[in-house]
Amino acid sequence: MDFAPFDKRNYPVLSVEDGYGEWAATYEGTVLDLMDIRLLKRLRVDWAGARRAVDLACGTGRIGAWLKSQGVGALDGIDLTGPMLDKARARGIYATLKQGDLGASGFEGGAYDLVTENLAQEHLPSLTPLYQEAARLLRRGGRFICVGYHPFFLMQGIPTHFDRASGGSVTIKSHVHLMSDHVHAATAAGLTLAEMEESLIGDDWIALKPKWEAWRHRPVSFAMVWIKA
Ligand SMILES: C[S@@+](CC[C@H](N)C(=O)[O-])C[C@H]1O[C@@H](n2cnc3c(N)ncnc32)[C@H](O)[C@@H]1O
Repeated sequence: MDFAPFDKRNYPVLSVEDGYGEWAATYEGTVLDLMDIRLLKRLRVDWAGARRAVDLACGTGRIGAWLKSQGVGALDGIDLTGPMLDKARARGIYATLKQGDLGASGFEGGAYDLVTENLAQEHLPSLTPLYQEAARLLRRGGRFICVGYHPFFLMQGIPTHFDRASGGSVTIKSHVHLMSDHVHAATAAGLTLAEMEESLIGDDWIALKPKWEAWRHRPVSFAMVWIKA
């Protein structure tokens, strides 16, 4: 569902490519590892056992770098936004990087031990292409790690946003997907849920972002691990 009815900030809304094209220069300084890497560390995934992996919506390669630090083998990536991909390419950690839509990556089907998608779902009008593509790419027994900005948090009216170099904040076109939307899309793609974790706003967040006291105890992000049977 469209985020617009929940919006309490009313920042100007940019497309994914325009928004991340502009944000790419400062993106890595604004996203907290508490949002996602903390959740990834809680998962019981054999990262080093993944010989081939794909990072869907890889952005600047933040998560790709973490995956490589955990021993993941050959890593491919795809993202819509050129300037984000330029940063990823500069890391030198991806075997192949493509510019394109994650729903039609063109990477080899049935070939990957691990597929990840981190913090991009709120920009997808539908989750179906994401889960279908993850399931297509995975070998049997492979895992899809889906990490997202929590729908409860989005529904409080705070969209993904950043401060422009020229001043003022802007947001990027967003959609709200319920947890049940994930379950519907994943099960239709033949995936089974193995693990799920959620991250709450607590002292660690507030120490870094004092204004977030207003959202203490609220769930801000989640991680799901899906297995292809
Ligand atoms: C918040 S960033 C996340 C980047 C990276 N995964 C991370 O966690 O740091 C969202 C990324 O999703 C990408 N994106 C959004 N919609 C996409 C789509 N349909 N296909 C491919 N990439 C997409 C954007 O270009 C952007 O780089």
